[in-house]
Amino acid sequence: MKLFNVYPLFDVTPVKAKDLYVYDDKGTEYLDLYGGHAVISIGHSHPEYVKSVSEQLRQLGFYSNSIQNPLQVELTEKLGVLSGCKDYQLFLCNSGAEANENALKLASFQTKKHKVLAFKNGFHGRTSAAVATTDNHKIVAPINAQQDVVFVEFGDIKATKEAFKIHEFCAVIIETIQGIGGLDETSAQFYKELKTLCTEHNTLYIADEIQCGFGRTGDFFAFQKHGIEPDIISMAKGMGNGFPVGGILIHPNIEGSFGLLGTTFGGNHLACAATLSVLKVIEEEQLLINAKIMATYFKEKAKEIPEIKTIKGRGLMLGLEFENPIAQLRKNLIFKHHVFTGSSKNPNLLRILPPLTIQKKHIDAFFEALKTELKS
Ligand SMILES: Cc1ncc(COP(=O)(O)O)c(C=O)c1O
Repeated sequence: MKLFNVYPLFDVTPVKAKDLYVYDDKGTEYLDLYGGHAVISIGHSHPEYVKSVSEQLRQLGFYSNSIQNPLQVELTEKLGVLSGCKDYQLFLCNSGAEANENALKLASFQTKKHKVLAFKNGFHGRTSAAVATTDNHKIVAPINAQQDVVFVEFGDIKATKEAFKIHEFCAVIIETIQGIGGLDETSAQFYKELKTLCTEHNTLYIADEIQCGFGRTGDFFAFQKHGIEPDIISMAKGMGNGFPVGGILIHPNIEGSFGLLGTTFGGNHLACAATLSVLKVIEEEQLLINAKIMATYFKEKAKEIPEIKTIKGRGLMLGLEFENPIAQLRKNLIFKHHVFTGSSKNPNLLRILPPLTIQKKHIDAFFEALKTELKS
């Protein structure tokens, strides 16, 4: 048997990792400013995380959602306090796409409508409804294309209002800061007006915080900067620091009923232990504050480099835009300087998504590598 060939792979084989460093099978140390697609939030193999997950595995790794699971209750309480979304309700699943799939399904159940408003350049996952709301026709199969989705320009309030005049939407789905699309964020005014339109039209506002949430921007959720109250918030990525876990936060106005949503693996004991340790470390090590301080430092250093045209994003969800495509630069950073960074739909944008534990020394090392590479 062989693997289904869907990923272009870099020829690097990581075998262990610690905080911001990843080590390959030859013992080479790499600086990880990508966190495996924004997943590593509290640093690779954080001692608290290793302890929490391994102790839980020794006790009980899994049981289904048909029994009492006090870890889910503890997680709900802690997440409520730390996120500032105390009154919301939590439904746990296993990935980002699954979180959005459940969010869209819930919106449709709730409003009894089926059309969705989504935004150009958005990414929401690869499953049925989630992929249909993703602006990338290459990954939408005919079976997904049956979903009724209207796309408008990100941040275009006029086009959004027009769409609401013509269509009946069950949901609007929006990344507060677009990830793979290239780190665009629109105005607070736009998010607010969009939320008002949703309220007026009995449409649920789904904030896709899968990449930009869980502390990445230095706010627990990126939408919080804009003073809105989404109906549903979807999360994944940094939530489990690598353990596959996702979830949605559901506004108190929406009532659950038995069987409405469900999953076999979602909210299992190991996933809860992983997420609880992430929350503990975020709180104890004040990682939200660190994210903001380090972002300021990173942006100052980036300003010193003339080749960088624009610095995009906020917190530790950053992008460096160059005049030319960055594909070769990214390869050279990996193979010559041993630094992992990311790409996006914008070919000129280098994406930076490090663990929230990043320190000045890591940022200095990155800029040294970048300067050397740009000179060569
Ligand atoms: C904003 C956003 N939504 C949804 C997803 C899908 O998450 P997953 O790959 O865990 O299904 C991603 C993944 O990159 C994402 O960035």
